[in-house]
This record gives sequence, C-alpha cells and structure tokens, in this order.
Amino acid sequence: MNDSAAVPEVRVFADARAAVPVLLDELRRVIEHGTRPLVGFATGGTFTAMLQALGDELRGRRIDPGAFRATHLDEYLGFPPERRGGMVHELGTHCPPLLDMLRDGALLPVPHEGSPSGLRAHEERLQRAGGVHVQFLGIGRNGHVAFNEPGTSFATGFHVTTLAEATREDARARFAPGEVPRQAVTSGLATIAAAQRLVLCAFGAAKAAAVRAMLHGDVGPACPASVVRRHGNVLVLLDREAAGGIAATTASG
Ligand code: GLP
Repeated sequence: MNDSAAVPEVRVFADARAAVPVLLDELRRVIEHGTRPLVGFATGGTFTAMLQALGDELRGRRIDPGAFRATHLDEYLGFPPERRGGMVHELGTHCPPLLDMLRDGALLPVPHEGSPSGLRAHEERLQRAGGVHVQFLGIGRNGHVAFNEPGTSFATGFHVTTLAEATREDARARFAPGEVPRQAVTSGLATIAAAQRLVLCAFGAAKAAAVRAMLHGDVGPACPASVVRRHGNVLVLLDREAAGGIAATTASG
C-alpha cells in the first residue's frame, strides 16, 4: 500500500482530561444530526474519564440516553457482559447507564463467543442500526486498534484474533492475579473504516511511537492504526506526551 492518504486533523491537549469535553461534543453532534445514531465506544484507560463524564451527563439527562444507540469495538473471547475484565463489564463500571441501554437492547454488545454466525449477525445488526456514525478508538503501543494486531489486513470484518504478547502484557493488571486471555473477538479494520467518523485518542509517552507510525509511517498492516489515513473524516486527540514524536500540530486546551 502507498501513502496517498488523507491527513487526519490532529489536536494536542495539555492532558487527557482536557480532551473529555471535545469527546462529549462529538457525541452531542451526532445525536443532534441523526435519528438515534449508532455510537461506537472504545475501552481502555484512554477512555475512562470520558465514560465517567458521559455517565454523569446521561444520569443528569443533559445527554438523552434514548437519543442514540451504542456498540463497542471488541471483547475477550468467552467474556459475557457481567464478567470482570471484559469490555462490556468495563463500559458498565465506568458508565452505568450503558448497562441500562444493554438491558433495553440499545447497546449492541460484541458477541463474546465469537462464532462465525454470531459475528455475521452482529455485523448485520450494526447495518440495520444505520452503521456506526462516530467510532471512538484508542491505540495500542504496537499500533493496534481494537484488537487488530500488526499484520492484520485492512479488509477484515469482525473476527476472532490471538492477542500479541505486548497487548497481553498491557492487560495484565485488569486480570491480576489471573491469566490474561489469549484470544479476543474484534471489529476488523474494514468495519472500523466503514464508520462515518473516527475519533482516535492517545495519551501518555508510551503511545508516542505508535502515534508517530500511525501518522508518519507507511500506511499498511504493519501499523493497523494507519488505517485512519485511508479515511477522510478523522480527528486525532493527543496529549503532549503522546504527540512527542510528531511534527507540528494544532495546539489546544
Ligand atoms: C486494548 C483495546 C484497544 C485499546 C487499547 C489501549 O487493547 N482493545 O481498543 O485501544 O487497549 O488501551 P489503553 O487505553 O488502556 O491504553
């Protein structure tokens, strides 16, 4: 693949907290302009502050939980929503109103058992809900997005994947003292790129090399996050540490 790619908008903040209002505004904007649009959430420490703030907004009815539908990127294989360590469990821990949405059928969970028919049905459900309007994304230290590890084709849909050792290492704390799962169900890079808008966040110095590869390296499977340069409607939010390896960017916050 070559580098004839779109240049994402990049904004740099003093710290991760300063990006939260921007993330909530992204959500508000799709709600204002769509009819119950589908919002794709991401998990990981990157999104904890946003999910907590969203929980406050939903409980205070400053954002109407009936005004959108939700889904998310990935799940550890065999982790139902109530199982600690899983992604839906994490979403509900930081943002309890999402569990009400799950109960009401307004949060479409990634099928944790990973059967081919279940994954096909999930892709169809997302389509019937109008497709993902805004997809929030984190990035792994190795350039993964969702659980698309380096080497994953840009043409993939939802699939079961084997986690890279670096990814398992980073997930150790959430499963301690237990073992980190070896497999997960993940949205594929084609499914992610089908969202109308992508909003990718990276905070902290540990992400700087991956951010640099995403924005300035070759576009291709060696850096799955570089898929954002195949998409014309992308916002990248960084803190100063994560932006440390990249050329001049728009300073904010
Ligand atoms: C996991 C998730 C990714 C997330 C990444 C970064 O691997 N599958 O979607 O982007 O973690 O996590 P953190 O935000 O904790 O750095």
